[in-house]
Amino acid sequence: MCLDIRKTTIKVDGLKKEYKFLQISDLHMLKMDERDSEARRKGYKKRADDYFTLNGVPTYDLLPTFLEVAKSENALPIFTGDTVDIPTESAYEVLDKYMPLPPDVMFIFGNHDWSFMDYIHGIDRDTVTKDDYWSDEYRQKYYPRYQKFAQNGNLHYQAIECDEIIYAGFDNTENQLDQSQCDFLISLSKKQKPIIIFCHNPFYCDTLHQPLVDRWGERGANSTVVNGKSSPMNEQTKNFYRAMLSPDSNVIAVVAGHVHIEHDDLIEGKIPQYCGAGAYSGIARLFTIKA
Ligand SMILES: [Fe+2]
Ligand SMILES: [Fe+2]
Repeated sequence: MCLDIRKTTIKVDGLKKEYKFLQISDLHMLKMDERDSEARRKGYKKRADDYFTLNGVPTYDLLPTFLEVAKSENALPIFTGDTVDIPTESAYEVLDKYMPLPPDVMFIFGNHDWSFMDYIHGIDRDTVTKDDYWSDEYRQKYYPRYQKFAQNGNLHYQAIECDEIIYAGFDNTENQLDQSQCDFLISLSKKQKPIIIFCHNPFYCDTLHQPLVDRWGERGANSTVVNGKSSPMNEQTKNFYRAMLSPDSNVIAVVAGHVHIEHDDLIEGKIPQYCGAGAYSGIARLFTIKA
């Protein structure tokens, strides 16, 4: 399988070494078997065939290939969410088989990693309500099984501290961040190293809005980003946002997924934000950080 590996360089003055990571975002592995109900298998089949199969290859079969690319480039694989499309047992077994464990990976949670969309797809509207898409029950049920892929078992906030830079990962799949995540970011900033933030949902940017409207419609564009029109920041998220943009923050870039389009811009005209294309389309991005 021939993958499309895009390349981006982030320049940081004063670095003595070069650092590389491969962003793999939104692979959307959709794998089902007899452990899933017939309704579910039937209901998601078209989605699996139409969106998450590339040249006849289901995207769950791309996982080892992406990881081989990271290895051959000597780059840290960083997953920015939606690695699975629905958290079935069989999809999880693929992760279990191939996904490296920390510190050899950074795994960020996406909204699909812990949610079924049975209601939205009309699979089960008798027993499942609309709220089940992002229910506490699903979060509590599926969060623990992914914890081993996060640094210190913490998907909520995590970091890898390299010699000269820090990779910091946050779960912001509901378009909000909380005070513990803000405090963690502030504590990292005190280490006086450049920080790159990884999260699933991007932050609102003026130039990102129109491409999002083109891809997801006005409603999607307003709801898929932090600080979007229909997802205004709560007080704790505002604290995080202010800390990120403050002159003391040391945040030099944000790398996000979720929107399935490659797009680079500046948050508030200050911090570069890189959105990755969906890995389900065979695309990943190799970042090199150097002086
Ligand atoms: Fe996605
Ligand atoms: Fe997503």
